[in-house]
Amino acid sequence: MRTVYKIGWGIVGLSIVFTSCRKPKGCTDESAINYDVEAVKDDGSCEYEIYDPTAYSLETPYTLAQYLPDPFIPEDNPLTEEGVALGRKLFYEKKLSGDNTQNCATCHKQENAFTDPAQFSTGIDGLQGDRNAMPLFNMAWNFNDEYFWDGRTSTIEGQAHDPVVNPIEMHEIWPNVVAKLQADSEYPTLFKQVFGTDQIDSLMVVKAIAQFERTLISGNSKFDKYLRGEAQLTPSELSGYNIFMDESGGDCFHCHGDPYNPLWTDNLYHNNGLDATFTDLGREAVTGDPADRGKFKTPSLRNLVYTAPYMHDGRFQTIDDVINHYSVGLQYSPTLDPLMKNVGVGGVQLNPQDRLDLKAFLLTLTDEDFVTNPKFSDPN
Ligand code: HEC
Ligand code: HEC
Repeated sequence: MRTVYKIGWGIVGLSIVFTSCRKPKGCTDESAINYDVEAVKDDGSCEYEIYDPTAYSLETPYTLAQYLPDPFIPEDNPLTEEGVALGRKLFYEKKLSGDNTQNCATCHKQENAFTDPAQFSTGIDGLQGDRNAMPLFNMAWNFNDEYFWDGRTSTIEGQAHDPVVNPIEMHEIWPNVVAKLQADSEYPTLFKQVFGTDQIDSLMVVKAIAQFERTLISGNSKFDKYLRGEAQLTPSELSGYNIFMDESGGDCFHCHGDPYNPLWTDNLYHNNGLDATFTDLGREAVTGDPADRGKFKTPSLRNLVYTAPYMHDGRFQTIDDVINHYSVGLQYSPTLDPLMKNVGVGGVQLNPQDRLDLKAFLLTLTDEDFVTNPKFSDPN
């Protein structure tokens, strides 16, 4: 009885081996999900994983949509839901740094409109640079597509390459970053969903981060609501707005925008009279042109309440310090911007009430929704 039983199972086993060995037809393409190792002839049954990321639609706030051209999205890096989500995860990923302790958000914190409240950020080796970190928002409308205080890198993708390898920042080398992500249990699949391959490379990493950065949009301040007819300005805020726009008053708008340029920056380089001589050459270090000495990229005036300290070297702690600079603190140097026309008397000479009003207006550019938007927070 027992022997018969054993023989019976033996026959079943043998027949399985035989059928699989003899299988002549099936899917012979190794890249198919139903690739059949045993098949010798392809029968057209191959099935492939569909790589089909979902397009991401950027919601452009009314004031930006009204007056600005469409945001700039490079053709070789379109926004996708999967790409933006991966970029967000990578922005908060500490594996991008040499000792796995820092991510981009270490120096670009959401509650500070993605800048660092410290005058100078500290990298993984405890080293500090000599420039204040920059806030990150509305970058898809920076049509010059140049980044850093001196504009030394172009494209958002190109910029993201730098902090990873910068010795005073994340101090890592790209092959290590890629190896760490490749060995992770989640990343290879996530990259495959975005780029169609699970073989990660540094270009894919910076592309994903750039996709996330392009979604960091700030356009819902009190002043935006005022322009939409949803909020009223106080008399002091309105007076401050007029001082900002008045060529014989504060005269700020040429460089810092107006309702028709609601980025509140021209994204160009100017010397705004901080110093008579320069240790940090600014734009000159990039162009080699002495006419660019001491010129730095104009920062946006949105979200100032979150982005202190101010200027490329974070020298001013408060908005009052900044207004005092433009009012009476201007220093002459050969590359001083011609708009700083009152340099002979130190500046635009605002009286105490004007200063209060100008500050009240600047604070209407605060966008609380931006710093609390859950879409931009740490997903890990
Ligand atoms: C150790 C702090 C630190 C870390 C970490 C860091 N940054 Fe920065 N970031 C800075 C500083 C400082 C600047 C300004 C440097 C300059 O102009 O020379 C800056 C500038 C930038 C700018 C330029 C913005 C503009 O408008 O021109 C972008 C974009 C940026 N960082 C993105 C990133 C990304 C993405 C990461 C992560 C991959 C990152 N940063 C990590 C400190 C840091
Ligand atoms: C000629 C162009 C120009 C004009 C006019 C101008 N600014 Fe600026 N502003 C700049 C530049 C450039 C910087 C950055 C300079 C640096 O860091 O070296 C700056 C920096 C600032 C900052 C610091 C923002 C930050 O995040 O660090 C504030 C605030 C500011 N300006 C407000 C004003 C006000 C208010 C006026 C009018 C009274 C004004 N600016 C007029 C070009 C200008």
